[in-house]
Amino acid sequence: MTINQSDRDEVREIQAGTAPTRFARGWHCIGLTESFKDGEPHSIEAFGTKLVVFADSEGSVKILDAYCRHMGGDLSQGTIKGDAIACPFHDWRWGGNGKCQKIPYARRVPPLAKTRAWHTLDQDGMLFVWNDPEGNPPPADVTIPRIEGALSDEWSDWVWFTTTVDTNCREIVDNIVDMAHFFYVHYSFPTYFKNVFEGHTATQYMRGTARTDMRPHAAGTPQMLGSDSTATYFGPSFMVDDLIYQYEDHNIDSVLINCHYPVSADKFVLQYGIIVKKSDRFQGDAADSMAKNFGTFIAKGFEQDVEIWKNKTRIENPLLCEEDGPVYQLRRWYEQFYVDVADVAPEMTERFEFELDTARPVAAWKQEVEDNLAAKKAEADAAASVH
Ligand code: FES
Ligand SMILES: [Fe+2]
Repeated sequence: MTINQSDRDEVREIQAGTAPTRFARGWHCIGLTESFKDGEPHSIEAFGTKLVVFADSEGSVKILDAYCRHMGGDLSQGTIKGDAIACPFHDWRWGGNGKCQKIPYARRVPPLAKTRAWHTLDQDGMLFVWNDPEGNPPPADVTIPRIEGALSDEWSDWVWFTTTVDTNCREIVDNIVDMAHFFYVHYSFPTYFKNVFEGHTATQYMRGTARTDMRPHAAGTPQMLGSDSTATYFGPSFMVDDLIYQYEDHNIDSVLINCHYPVSADKFVLQYGIIVKKSDRFQGDAADSMAKNFGTFIAKGFEQDVEIWKNKTRIENPLLCEEDGPVYQLRRWYEQFYVDVADVAPEMTERFEFELDTARPVAAWKQEVEDNLAAKKAEADAAASVH
């Protein structure tokens, strides 16, 4: 057997690279605030360490390093006593500001008894923690925007989901430019797709419809015509998606949160939540159950991503075609969160806009859907003629 020289020259090799051991600078949502207010300390593995989250006597939620500076006990296994978290090992009491307040068996507290207290943000029912490997506090202009419907009676309550994914969190961020996977992995049909990156935000504008070959319309239910989505990452890990589902005679407005925090270089916790706007059609329980249904639907979408991530390799040099989104530019934007503030280069934060020309993908996908529907029909006809 001979190997063709040109074949050998032209093989593209994958550069897998290695996931960074540093964790992104930014606000990270760790869940609904309410879930931390049950009077118990909570353990959160994040940023390569363990944190303890607890509410003080006023209900204000505090976050400290979980490992006690005395002898290394795990504060998240301790007890809340007044405004402090008491270590299960020797009962040292740590206040929400990181200072040791009291050692019940000691004459005095050593003056240097201070542990790390993390900056928190309690907003719109969600709890955020600020991570900065350089140890600086959050700048005033690096914020998470308010979500209008979050605490409003005109919207449903949050329906919230949490799952752990065994891969580096860049995989989920890549999704923001990946139009084609929506068709193949999520069975949706994008017809318009645009990205804008600027400062610490990255946005995906997408309009589309469902794939009628994969998700046939169930008789008796209103037919979904399409969806309109504006999804923005504010910082490295918190995405707000204003998502409108269009039906024959009405729209459903929803806000989907897609956020994560890293546990280690190859593990992250993915969380997503949804609220739905109430309308004449959907009041009270109906809006809540609509949010639940959407949540379950979105959960399926993430499961489809996870299945891909479980089996794929990390890739530093994706081989792209013209109809792919701007993966390299997105990663340049994402890099700003992994370097010191002094090393954030203009090309990481400059405005960048890219609208995909969807003409060719839409034509190809239309054909594929039609072919699949025709094949299904032929199969059904054949089955009917046998009987
Ligand atoms: S290790 Fe925490 S009190 Fe001793
Ligand atoms: Fe996806």
